[in-house]
Amino acid sequence: MNNDSSIAQIAAILRDEAARLRPGDRLPSSREVMRRHNVSPVTVSRALGLLAAEGVVVTRPGSGAFVAHRTERPAAAPDLSWQTVALGDRVVDESAVVTLLSPPPEGVVPLTGGYPHPGLRPDRQLAAAATRAVRRPDAWAMPPLNGLAELRRWFAAEAGGDVTAADALIVSGGQSALTHAFRALAAPGTQVLVETPTYPGALAAAKAAGLRATAVPMDRDGVRPDLLAEAFAVTGARVFCTQPTLHNPTGATLPRERREQVLQVARAAGAFVIEDDFARYLTDQAPPPMVSMDEHGIVVYIASLTKVLSPSMRVAAVIARGPAAHRLRANQLVESFFVARPLQETAVEFLGSGAWGRHLSALHAEIATRRDALAAELALRMPRAELHLLPRGGMHLWLRLPPEVDETALVEEARRGGVLVSPGRMYYPSEPPGPRVRVTHISATHLAELAEGVRRLAEALDRVS
Ligand SMILES: Cc1ncc(COP(=O)(O)O)c(C=O)c1O
Repeated sequence: MNNDSSIAQIAAILRDEAARLRPGDRLPSSREVMRRHNVSPVTVSRALGLLAAEGVVVTRPGSGAFVAHRTERPAAAPDLSWQTVALGDRVVDESAVVTLLSPPPEGVVPLTGGYPHPGLRPDRQLAAAATRAVRRPDAWAMPPLNGLAELRRWFAAEAGGDVTAADALIVSGGQSALTHAFRALAAPGTQVLVETPTYPGALAAAKAAGLRATAVPMDRDGVRPDLLAEAFAVTGARVFCTQPTLHNPTGATLPRERREQVLQVARAAGAFVIEDDFARYLTDQAPPPMVSMDEHGIVVYIASLTKVLSPSMRVAAVIARGPAAHRLRANQLVESFFVARPLQETAVEFLGSGAWGRHLSALHAEIATRRDALAAELALRMPRAELHLLPRGGMHLWLRLPPEVDETALVEEARRGGVLVSPGRMYYPSEPPGPRVRVTHISATHLAELAEGVRRLAEALDRVS
């Protein structure tokens, strides 16, 4: 159950419980509430959200919910329950994205997250680029609606093939690009094909666009073209969303031959391929994007600067041709007009400076060092966990756990032991094949913290086994 009445019911139960406790006391964990009342994580998080808004509890990401001190409670909490009726059931499930974006609590090692540790960001060079950018004469003027010409040229040249600047639209990061693509390419209520496992933010965006996701299995070389063809035939879907390079979470990179097969399968189905190239700059071994091999306007290509530069460098390009390109532009205009010009100008300044090449080389070296160190620590301390593959770059390793391990219990026990890892099940649009975890190397402060994180994880695995 996960509707407004169950949210209200769980909120009432927790409100009573909080009334019996003292300020500062911890409420039962979300997992415990889910187990006791047989409700989903979304229901629990929404119930806690209601109580936090009322000032009854204070939630601390990663630590739990605590009874609020009196001073934390507003003088007279207004009765906002009418909103529940007015809003109905169009709930957007943001839980996976919140997990991705939440900072770790003090003292906890983050083997989670989706962006490099702040120490790996080129902050000084970005600041210098921003200073130069805002001094440009037109910095605060309205930009061309599709994005600055220099930026569109840059993304087009990076995409390769016969892509031109005219095919590129600048949008506010990869997540926004996914939302635009889903909305522009598929009608609400229809199916979209996704890899399984896949990035939960893509699943959430597809769902928010009213689409139903159907899972297409992968192997170590990425999506399986034979099953993709079958999925198109069975569902009638006209959109397939994929991360062919350094797939999140598995790290798989689709070889050239498979890229061609995927394009052929999509062409035969009269379908679009959304190529989410989110990790292109997190390796020096990325193969040419699928869009560079596409002669028929099949691929809608997404490249973003956030992973390589900063989560706040919310500049990405969507590359498309034909009516699809027109719809994407219309979508972006109606939704948010354009990306703020000073940010676009900053990106142009940074990418055109020597800082870009220097940053890429340093980051690639750091990624290789961290990936190898993490793989070595895991092999040493957790030999029972099987590494899916050693990716050519990126931020994560994907681990298969022995089938008898309770994945939820492990993640919770690890959190209690001071390390965060991402539970495998959140990456699956349908049933997970078994217990898995995604372990991230890029968020830790340094190699010693990475090793400490693995030590804590190994201990947690021993405790739950
Ligand atoms: C596969 C994938 N695509 C897209 C995104 C969105 O990233 P951004 O909006 O920061 O470009 C992420 C972020 O984690 C991701 O993992």
